[in-house]
Amino acid sequence: MSIQWYPGHMVKTKRQIIDSLKLIDVVIELFDARIPDSSKNPDIDELIGNKQRVVLLNKCEMADENITKEWIKRYKDMGISALDVDSITGRNINRVYTLVKESVKEHFEKRVEKGIVGRPVRALVLGIPNVGKSTFINKISSKSSAKTGDKPGVTRSKQWIKVNKDFELLDTPGILWPKFDDEKVALHLAFIRAIKDEILDPEELAVKLIEELVSLKPEALKDRYKIDLNTDAFEVLKNIGRKRGCIVSGGEVNTVRAANLLLDDFRSGRLGRLSLEKPQI
Ligand code: G4P
Repeated sequence: MSIQWYPGHMVKTKRQIIDSLKLIDVVIELFDARIPDSSKNPDIDELIGNKQRVVLLNKCEMADENITKEWIKRYKDMGISALDVDSITGRNINRVYTLVKESVKEHFEKRVEKGIVGRPVRALVLGIPNVGKSTFINKISSKSSAKTGDKPGVTRSKQWIKVNKDFELLDTPGILWPKFDDEKVALHLAFIRAIKDEILDPEELAVKLIEELVSLKPEALKDRYKIDLNTDAFEVLKNIGRKRGCIVSGGEVNTVRAANLLLDDFRSGRLGRLSLEKPQI
């Protein structure tokens, strides 16, 4: 999915999210485990304010396990509960409710003291496009995906998805914009295809990815393509093309095909589990 964000659109989105926040107890903030920094909305902290939140590092089975652990520790150090999940395989999805319940424990105890009981915990899923919000909602609610219908005091258009008898999700996730003015962020989003390919030159993107992988985890490229990396990134791309038969008549390498092949291998996890971002110390 690719969304064009305009200032007017952003103001409207903010207003809708602020309205939704009034209906819920906790925000489930979804990040891509491979790029938690770049998949974060720059205004989210201000938007959420004091509302409880739980961070989910989605697509975790494509990210480096140890780096994901570092991220989870980083969030915990910040006082935020975090969990690695994979909405396709279902990894840790059954632990989300426990985390959510824990995060609102105090808030609900206060409600009980005031005599308010018997309402499920309500959550809103927030994240930038393509981070996996819909897939996550479908996965967590698959056993009982029936919507609970309108409730008194809730805007007619708002529907709740029942996860279990004590936990409901707002049926429409909040879609937020990424930090699109930062070049590194834009590249990382493009690598994982959260930004449409058509707006970026595949060769340029592949060269940038090679440069990043060479400094991050060269063995990912060496193991997959059995190539020498002691040369410039464009030459590496050509070597990948040669190894993989991306040749045009006359023996030249078709570098666009090679670039698409590399990007495809990276995106589908064929280069192994890779995290492009580590928590900053
Ligand atoms: P969104 O609502 O946040 O925009 O994201 P959505 O659920 O539509 O998911 C975007 C893409 O990411 C989908 O792939 C989906 O299958 C994939 N995805 C979501 N969660 C996970 C996960 O935990 N693990 C993995 N491996 N993939 C996940 P798609 O439709 O094929 O799009 P694309 O990947 O080809 O861009």
